[in-house]
Amino acid sequence: MRLFSSVHDVTDIKKLVQDALDLKANPYAHQHLGKNKTLGLVFLNPSLRTRLSTQKAAINLGMSVMVMNMDKEGWALETQDGVVMNGTTVEHIREAAAVMGQYCDILGLRSFPKLHNREEDYNEDFFNKFVKYCGVPVVSLESATRHPLQSLADLVTITETWKAHSPSEKVGVRLPKVVLAWAPHVKALPQAVPNSFAEWMCRAQQESMLDFTIAQPEGYELNPDFTPGATITHSLEEALSGADYIYVKNWSSYKEYGRVLTYPDGWMMNNEKLKLTNNGKVMHCLPVRRDLELSSEILDGPNSLVIHEAGNRLWAAQAVLKQILSDLQ
Ligand code: CP
Repeated sequence: MRLFSSVHDVTDIKKLVQDALDLKANPYAHQHLGKNKTLGLVFLNPSLRTRLSTQKAAINLGMSVMVMNMDKEGWALETQDGVVMNGTTVEHIREAAAVMGQYCDILGLRSFPKLHNREEDYNEDFFNKFVKYCGVPVVSLESATRHPLQSLADLVTITETWKAHSPSEKVGVRLPKVVLAWAPHVKALPQAVPNSFAEWMCRAQQESMLDFTIAQPEGYELNPDFTPGATITHSLEEALSGADYIYVKNWSSYKEYGRVLTYPDGWMMNNEKLKLTNNGKVMHCLPVRRDLELSSEILDGPNSLVIHEAGNRLWAAQAVLKQILSDLQ
């Protein structure tokens, strides 16, 4: 593997999930792979989990890590070709990415969408140019449209907990019902996490690992390219009926791109709604706005998986880096 930017870069998702769980059981078994290898993590946006889990994953594999907070510490980058750089941009992405590739064996990049122009964001112009010019393998740390390390960790969490906490006869007899449930927010947030979660869950559904449903108010439908085979409804109650996992997340409208729309009441997940589920476990990628997206009673209660899920970010990142390092040997 030279690129990890979406589920489409993965040949066998079941094997990658199992690799992550094997690394969780035995974190330091592959330190030889990263000896004398350097990971560079480039952030154009803030991060807590992605930054720390990916650094720790690299350290577990014997790698050295360098972090560049490009938004605060780097030169202002130009991404367009053919422009005279007589404005505010100081360095072209052609040189910046290529130079970082000189110092690192693998690079990770976080580049959020601007949420002004849908076509521009969905073209992944910055991410694709970075991949093109850096010349080394690249891991997405969340791009304009996807967050694959998060989604892999989510699938690892569902697989692990369904096996561990469900009666063995249930695991054999039926698949877990996984629901992506839209939640309120005060800002227009990117679609990267829900797009990516939907894409990974749709692939997992194809592989008979789970059943997948999305619930959102009218106007918040995701780009259908990311939801093939998903059951989609505008009724949260209908989606929650019998749900084993509820993945709570806000996203802004794809149709009315970048706008915060008004939305109906009743979309915040709380204990009352949890009663509709099959004692469902509640997930969120974090950071979460308490009592806006998700109630404190759930976050502090026994059905919350959010900390466990964040912990699994480490093993997801380590599984991906291990595969890239193995292919570099
Ligand atoms: N879930 C997630 O990616 O968290 P950070 O933005 O803190 O990295």
